[in-house]
Amino acid sequence: MRALTTAVASFVVLHFDVPRPRSLTSGEHLARIVEAAYASLRVAGSSTFRFEAAGSDSAVFARLGEEIARATGLKHDDERGELVLRVRRGAPAHGSPAHGTADPGWDVLVRVGNRPLSARPWRVADYPGAANATIAAAMVRLAGRSDEQRVVNLMSGSGTLLIERLLAGPAAQAVAIDVSSTATEAARANLEAAGLTRRATLVTGDVAAAEGEYDLLLADPPWSDLHGTHATAEQVHTDLLGTAARLAAPGARLLVLTHEIKVMDRVLRAQTGWSRTSETRVFAKGHHPRIYVLDRT
Ligand SMILES: C[S@@+](CC[C@H](N)C(=O)[O-])C[C@H]1O[C@@H](n2cnc3c(N)ncnc32)[C@H](O)[C@@H]1O
Repeated sequence: MRALTTAVASFVVLHFDVPRPRSLTSGEHLARIVEAAYASLRVAGSSTFRFEAAGSDSAVFARLGEEIARATGLKHDDERGELVLRVRRGAPAHGSPAHGTADPGWDVLVRVGNRPLSARPWRVADYPGAANATIAAAMVRLAGRSDEQRVVNLMSGSGTLLIERLLAGPAAQAVAIDVSSTATEAARANLEAAGLTRRATLVTGDVAAAEGEYDLLLADPPWSDLHGTHATAEQVHTDLLGTAARLAAPGARLLVLTHEIKVMDRVLRAQTGWSRTSETRVFAKGHHPRIYVLDRT
């Protein structure tokens, strides 16, 4: 499952040809749900579970919760439950008696493991505003990879983007630069936990003073609500693209993850150093940042 670097989570999907969730408490249906819960528990032990479903606070789900608690010994905790049971309107399986009929039945999705896959074992140091590792892995995939790449992670924070890049394969050079020594320490701890210490160089300093020539540049500039302010966002993005252009080898690629969509649009229109190859909207903790793939013109 650890190889699923760009998946948010994996689920066992159970389909039930039942008209409403209340029917899930019946013996044969409940047994399938409990069996899937045990399969998940074999991957990661949990002591609690929760539902993710419309109406999860209703009497029907309270009853279903009681039955599952009785059968598994897990505690129903809708706030902090570790084992996630998602219940939603279903799509009947091909060949099932309900296929092609009006009632889509219900699906129960039992998450495998008690945390989303973005919770990486290497993350031993948290950092405010750290990038989601699943999104970081998607950036690495969008970037394209070669062992000859010289890679720099600008404004690297706890090192998420560089770590996911190095876990995907070797690089000729790997450098992370952040102005904050707290960030450098977090990145150092995470790189060590990932077994990558010897493959990366950490620099504490302003990216404006960075030197070198790189084929792949990765950046996750300050968010307005955490490390920066909206007022400075345009300047930060302009400077970032300028610095990245200065550090770019011919044909280099720059990947930027940012929440500042309008700012990024304006900045990209105003400068000529980078051409926009793709723009991918992602979802992270209630925000919709975008991944920009930019190629050096
Ligand atoms: C959103 S955080 C990066 C988070 C990082 N991707 C991670 O996963 O932990 C933005 C970072 O930019 C850094 N930063 C802001 N301005 C900088 C500059 N001019 N030079 C270097 N780092 C800078 C901040 O210290 C902060 O760590």
